[in-house]
Amino acid sequence: MAVVTRTFWRRGVFLSAVVTAGLFANGAGCSSSTAADEPTRLTREELLDPETCKGCHADTYREWSGSMHAYAADDPVFLAMNARGQRETGGQLGTFCVNCHAPMAVRENATTDGLNLDKVDRKLKGVTCFFCHQADAIEGTHNGKLRLANDLVMRGRYADPVPNKAHAAGYSPFHDGTKVDSAKMCGACHDIVNGHGVAIERTFQEWQASVFAPTPNGLSCTQCHMKPVSRVPIAEAPNVYLRDRHEHTFEAVDTAVTPWPEKEAQAEKIRLMLAETLAVAMCVQIVGTRGAVQVIADNAGAGHSFPSGSAQDRRLWFELEAFRNDSPEPIYRSGVVPAGQDVSSLNDPDLWLFRDHFFDATGKEVHMFWEATRYESNLLPTKPPPAPLRSTHLIRRYPRDPNALLTAKPDRVTLRVLLQPIGLDVLDNLVASGDLDPAIRQATPGPHVVGTMLEWTPERAAATNLPFSARNEAAGTCVTNVPDRPTALNLVQSHCSADDPTLCSL
Ligand code: HEC
Ligand code: HEC
Ligand code: HEC
Ligand code: HEC
Ligand code: HEC
Repeated sequence: MAVVTRTFWRRGVFLSAVVTAGLFANGAGCSSSTAADEPTRLTREELLDPETCKGCHADTYREWSGSMHAYAADDPVFLAMNARGQRETGGQLGTFCVNCHAPMAVRENATTDGLNLDKVDRKLKGVTCFFCHQADAIEGTHNGKLRLANDLVMRGRYADPVPNKAHAAGYSPFHDGTKVDSAKMCGACHDIVNGHGVAIERTFQEWQASVFAPTPNGLSCTQCHMKPVSRVPIAEAPNVYLRDRHEHTFEAVDTAVTPWPEKEAQAEKIRLMLAETLAVAMCVQIVGTRGAVQVIADNAGAGHSFPSGSAQDRRLWFELEAFRNDSPEPIYRSGVVPAGQDVSSLNDPDLWLFRDHFFDATGKEVHMFWEATRYESNLLPTKPPPAPLRSTHLIRRYPRDPNALLTAKPDRVTLRVLLQPIGLDVLDNLVASGDLDPAIRQATPGPHVVGTMLEWTPERAAATNLPFSARNEAAGTCVTNVPDRPTALNLVQSHCSADDPTLCSL
């Protein structure tokens, strides 16, 4: 895995250079392959259906079918929230939610509120192939304002598509990961502003303000989220040759909670991606017969905050336990959540939890998108410009009270980073309002473990050379996951000059 990832990052950056310099330099605008030599094209009705694409783009179809883009209008939590929103706003939500979760159903007038999705033709549900590949203009930075060409020309990054019997094809900068326009295409849906003008999801905004945004040295959404599979046919059809195919799994955090294709493949991809996201170190300071722990966390891999997007529903926290004398009973613990409970139910003054909070006009905390008139946020920040990359680490001391110490000297400390995609309290709230089947809440799996557990012992710490620039801010001896994280390190190295190596050492 390490080797594969390394190549990806290097190539991601390398590819940008090649592409801008040569191949597609004259490919601006949409140059479609001529229809003259391919008279029997499929109809619009046929092209609307992802099943049609499967015939020639089987791998891409399979990946997409397991993605959250495919699941977006089947997700029972989505259906429950939308139903509740329509009821509580007296229908004022209208197409707001479904316009991003089933954009073709809205555009084909198959729904006006998403309440009839169970009767809507499957081919219109979710974020479909047709929707993304017909997009030809961005009409806003948020709320899904994308214009469709409706000319049945399937857009991609290749200016010289091999003519085929199904559809015309052609180049578009919105589908070329080396172009900023491609991030605007994703960004149009990955930023949400609700009816009160509150920016409740801000992934695109965060990316725009990051070191990753500028071209040509930055990284677009697709360069991180649609990894290339090198030199394969991109269609099973006559006369094709080898190119880069881009993965359509779009894994990150959410998983299907009902029977759905590709669940295991998605779960494994999520595990790998999460493992590359955070650089973490843990330092233990011994003070007389007692001690204290410091945890350093750096969002090293994400091109935006972490978590991002629906961060009001995400629960990202640190679970720390300190032990002594081989006793299974810890001398200290924080963030240890009993199975089936939500982390927010913990009475834990030291809890290090990252998420957004919503509030209504009266200052009361609320859970639902349409209720928020204000938010508070403490996400792990991404790297700000200018390059070279800097460590944007945050540090937390355990116990949190700077004058307090652990009750004894620890000889082993463990740390896990946990991420619950949707807070169980949010699900409980939806069950209580009668909108979500309690069986879904029961079947919801526990949190993702982000990366592997970090374990401090005096011996391990003695063998660790902490590469964090944060080293001088932390006291004691440290262990870290950084050597296991090729992605972030390569990314950093590819952005770093030798001028100031301290800035480059995460
Ligand atoms: C009959 C086979 C066939 C079917 C069915 C088919 N395609 Fe294609 N598609 C191709 C071929 C062939 C190419 C060109 C491959 C190449 O140039 O290497 C292509 C290319 C593409 C491209 C790349 C365009 C570019 O210029 O970069 C996209 C995007 C695409 N198809 C989307 C779709 C979608 C979406 C569907 C379903 C609605 C679909 N295709 C159905 C055969 C097919
Ligand atoms: C969320 C938007 C989105 C959806 C949904 C989507 N695609 Fe794509 N697709 C893209 C983007 C963006 C690229 C270009 C990536 C790049 O070049 O960096 C692409 C590239 C392609 C290509 C060109 C070859 C390649 O991999 O670069 C084909 C063929 C294709 N998609 C087919 C499909 C099919 C078939 C589906 C549905 C089963 C689908 N896409 C769904 C966004 C999407
Ligand atoms: C039509 C709007 C739309 C567009 C365009 C779009 N997305 Fe999405 N995307 C969604 C929705 C809606 C979901 C969440 C579905 C769900 O979980 O119910 C999602 C989910 C995702 C996820 C999974 C998030 C998670 O927490 O698991 C990733 C990653 C992602 N999108 C990346 C992209 C990228 C990269 C692009 C551009 C190539 C893109 N999206 C374009 C609407 C869109
Ligand atoms: C430098 C690489 C990189 C770039 C650039 C990037 N992402 Fe991400 N993204 C990540 C990583 C790493 C994660 C966290 C891994 C995970 O959630 O499994 C992530 C997570 C996400 C998530 C899930 C967030 C959550 O916590 O719910 C979404 C949605 C997403 N990205 C969309 C986008 C979009 C849209 C863009 C462009 C505007 C983008 N990403 C740019 C690497 C990147
Ligand atoms: C601008 C496009 C857009 C709109 C409008 C939108 N969503 Fe989403 N939704 C997304 C994207 C993108 C994601 C994935 C975000 C991530 O993974 O961080 C998502 C994720 C979700 C999820 C799964 C993760 C979670 O937060 O629990 C649910 C449920 C959801 N949306 C419900 C809704 C409801 C209900 C509405 C209307 C009140 C709505 N969405 C409006 C784009 C949108």
